[in-house]
Amino acid sequence: MTARNLFGFKDGTANVKAEDTTEIEEHVWVPKGDSADWMTGGSYLVSRKIRMTIETWDHSALREQERVIGRTKAEGAPSSGGTEFTEPDFAKEGSDGSPLIDAAAHVRLAHPKQNDGAVLLRRGYNFVDGNDELGRLNAGLFFIAFQRDPRTQFVPIQLRLARNDAMNEYVRHVGSGIFAVPPGAKNGSYIGAGLFEN
Ligand code: HEM
Repeated sequence: MTARNLFGFKDGTANVKAEDTTEIEEHVWVPKGDSADWMTGGSYLVSRKIRMTIETWDHSALREQERVIGRTKAEGAPSSGGTEFTEPDFAKEGSDGSPLIDAAAHVRLAHPKQNDGAVLLRRGYNFVDGNDELGRLNAGLFFIAFQRDPRTQFVPIQLRLARNDAMNEYVRHVGSGIFAVPPGAKNGSYIGAGLFEN
């Protein structure tokens, strides 16, 4: 079952599956020649601590929440119809002629179709860290994503979200980091050994 984030929506539906080795090879592991040699077979990790203004979100109507995400809250189905794992249809219009998945919906802007096919392996962790100085919940999503090249994956997706995502009204990025994750160690060796080879 897909876990939910603190907005109450299923998070991870359209994620790359670890078992889908073809997709993982293409989008997650660094291939030879792509980066420094010692990174071949490794991955780049982007992490963001994203504060979510839960109180404001909880005051908004269900219809607004579903518009912001582009999926239904109960099932996680795309607003264009179907069930959780149906592909979203971004062209489909409602009876009033406007797209069923809003132009500023998070899933529209984050989708590979909008980002030259860029895909991330996401792993989100919810955090709840007491209250802030005004008594609001200090909570959100510790977003982490693995990819073979952040310059063509995380960065363009995040720039698109930063400009237009309807979710921006309810979130604030408060921390950011990027890590080079070298490949696993061979028998008798250690992580990062490639850094010290000629
Ligand atoms: C607090 C912040 C965030 C929340 C609450 C959130 C929530 C969601 C939800 C509910 C979905 C739909 C279900 C799914 O497919 O997983 C989704 C999809 C997605 N999100 Fe986020 N997200 C957040 C931040 C981000 C960030 C920072 C990025 C990358 C820059 C991102 C990239 C994606 C991608 C790539 C998808 C899949 C789109 C698709 O292929 O349909 N999200 N997110």
